[in-house]
Amino acid sequence: MVSPERTSVPESDVEFVEDLYLRLLGRPADDAGLQWWVSALRSGTSHVDVAIGLAQSPEAIARTNHGSGAGQPTGSHHSWAFEDVVDADPTRLSARTYLEQRDLRRLIEAHLPEGRVASACEIGCGFGRMTVLLTEFADEVVGFEREKEFVERARSIHRGVDFRQVESLSHLSAENDSFDLAVTFTVLQHLVNAQAFEVVGELKRVLRGDVAILVEETDPDHVSGSVDDPGGACTIGRPVEVYQDWMHPFVLVEATPREIEADYPRADVGEYMVFRRGSA
Ligand SMILES: C[S@@+](CC[C@H](N)C(=O)[O-])C[C@H]1O[C@@H](n2cnc3c(N)ncnc32)[C@H](O)[C@@H]1O
Repeated sequence: MVSPERTSVPESDVEFVEDLYLRLLGRPADDAGLQWWVSALRSGTSHVDVAIGLAQSPEAIARTNHGSGAGQPTGSHHSWAFEDVVDADPTRLSARTYLEQRDLRRLIEAHLPEGRVASACEIGCGFGRMTVLLTEFADEVVGFEREKEFVERARSIHRGVDFRQVESLSHLSAENDSFDLAVTFTVLQHLVNAQAFEVVGELKRVLRGDVAILVEETDPDHVSGSVDDPGGACTIGRPVEVYQDWMHPFVLVEATPREIEADYPRADVGEYMVFRRGSA
């Protein structure tokens, strides 16, 4: 989740969306949601359609069904909604996903000399947007995700991927040394430090192959949300050196900037970091 400056859009659109959030969800708009709906308005979606869209969001429906408690963290954690996964309207989402799949494909081709491997996984796979790409390179592909709704959606829209719901990304339902390739895509950046460190450890536990690719925000100035609350929602840009340290004994063999749609308000949206197993 990446959250551009609110000042980059007309104030009236911002106010319209903020007001809808208060009335339909009973809470202030979060940055990603605000950007999502304001972008929709800017690309021609009518105000009525935005209102309908927000009213039909899982959070609004849950709130209607269960009373005013929804919109708050579910159980012990902040629940992710569909618009949190990619803060882009459908036109930008298609451009972004094209660019991201193109770049991930190029990196896998460059760093997986075997060409095709037996198994690959994505940790924190959302609704499988990037997981499906791994089927081009691996016979067995697993996507691990905490949010039940994402897993259900992923299962219904993608073929050939084993999507597994997990209680925590720190405890993956997989044996040691299960996968030849492991990927995280804009996931660790949303975990507080202790959690992110644990998930990196879990990634190394389930990886038997030599290559892992982490795609995360790396600008240390890009920090927002509840950075100390494991049950909250946050974005933490961590310098590449932090991931290098955490990934030891894997070594960084390539770092390349993440490129997304041309009109995204921030230039630096993180890096693709390719790690190779080194000697301990
Ligand atoms: C920006 S989305 C990326 C999803 C997917 N990798 C993609 O690129 O489309 C972030 C993902 O991290 C997951 N996530 C965020 N915070 C989490 C947490 N504390 N524990 C487990 N999963 C979390 C969300 O459920 C979501 O699937």
